[in-house]
Amino acid sequence: MKAAALIVAAGRGERAGGEIPKQYRLLMGRPVVAWSVEAFAAAGLRDIVVAIAPEHAPLLRQALEQGQGVRVAEGGATRSDSVRAGLAALPPDSSVVLIHDAARPGLTPETVHALIAAIEAGADGAAPALPLFDALWRGEGASLAHVDRTGLQRIQTPQAFKFDLIRSAYAAAGAQSFADDVAVARAAGAAIRLIPGDDRLMKLTVQQDFDTLERLMSSSRITCVGSGFDAHRFGVGDHVTLCGVRIPHDRGVLGHSDADAGWHALVDAILGALGEGDIGAHFPPSDPQWKGADSELFLRHAKALADRAGARLAHVDITLICERPKIGPHRESMRRRTADVLSLPLSRVSVKATTTERIGFTGREEGLAAQATATLDRPA
Ligand code: CTP
Ligand code: MG
Repeated sequence: MKAAALIVAAGRGERAGGEIPKQYRLLMGRPVVAWSVEAFAAAGLRDIVVAIAPEHAPLLRQALEQGQGVRVAEGGATRSDSVRAGLAALPPDSSVVLIHDAARPGLTPETVHALIAAIEAGADGAAPALPLFDALWRGEGASLAHVDRTGLQRIQTPQAFKFDLIRSAYAAAGAQSFADDVAVARAAGAAIRLIPGDDRLMKLTVQQDFDTLERLMSSSRITCVGSGFDAHRFGVGDHVTLCGVRIPHDRGVLGHSDADAGWHALVDAILGALGEGDIGAHFPPSDPQWKGADSELFLRHAKALADRAGARLAHVDITLICERPKIGPHRESMRRRTADVLSLPLSRVSVKATTTERIGFTGREEGLAAQATATLDRPA
């Protein structure tokens, strides 16, 4: 099934207050809306539309750093209007759409998969639901009256639907405003399957919700630091490639791929933080297809593994060790190349260089070496 995501982010966040609307504020160091975009991407969804207020376009651009390939739609005055606009911007050949509040950043790829599975199993729609444990009362004083909570549930987002069904349900509903998308689908007679909800999918509504959700989310995420090391021998040649940058040199570097020690060390660091073995296990030197390969491929592979694991690269740090060529003039290009491939802002990529004072194999210029660390924030 071709699944697409629609994230509604066109609200003003009035109840949460603050300098900028809640969906653009930071939660655990990352903009609220970016959490959902990355959770959908980690679940393998390629078509992601975010409905925003047009004046917030610069805030969205900043929140998504490299854009992450999302499409932007112009939201409307009510949530239902924003959903309508977002549905119109989705690829028409989508078979399932997951409609999600940007204000619920605690989304996991597991929930995305469970919702899609419910539709694949035949439901028209699916939504996460949680039981209610508190007693319910309406009114106050003399009018205070007990509400029977039997059978009541709290429904969260994302809410998944067969794409054609939700589109025609919205068309049939006209310009009305609804509490959520299940309401629209039910009005059209859709059969909705409820799956277990997740506390982390709570909606950020008021300021204190930020603290509550940070506590909930941090208990299920950990910071892992991976390290990597690589060395290559110098040989005949006229250039070396380090951190994706080709540097003219009076010698070349021997290796089965392009022998980019900087990126090889970094790949191992990322794999290390993920517990995914080492570069040789993923790209065996004995396999001729990696002969002369561009190491960008290896780095993209490591990044894709991190994305799939719901991990987020917080920072990378590479140290290149050689007497020559001089790294200084190329350092910034190396940072930029690395940041581009990893979709990281430049401030979270470091490239350093050192010599070994003419001692050891790098000092004798028999070869060059690199070491790297990668810091990942990932599900525990
Ligand atoms: N939303 C939207 N378009 C609107 C109103 C709301 O896309 N016209 C989105 C919000 O951005 C949010 C979700 O719908 O992701 C749920 O809405 P809510 O929590 O009410 O957010 P806000 O409307 O932004 O907050 P408030 O009501 O406090 O102003
Ligand atoms: Mg609102």
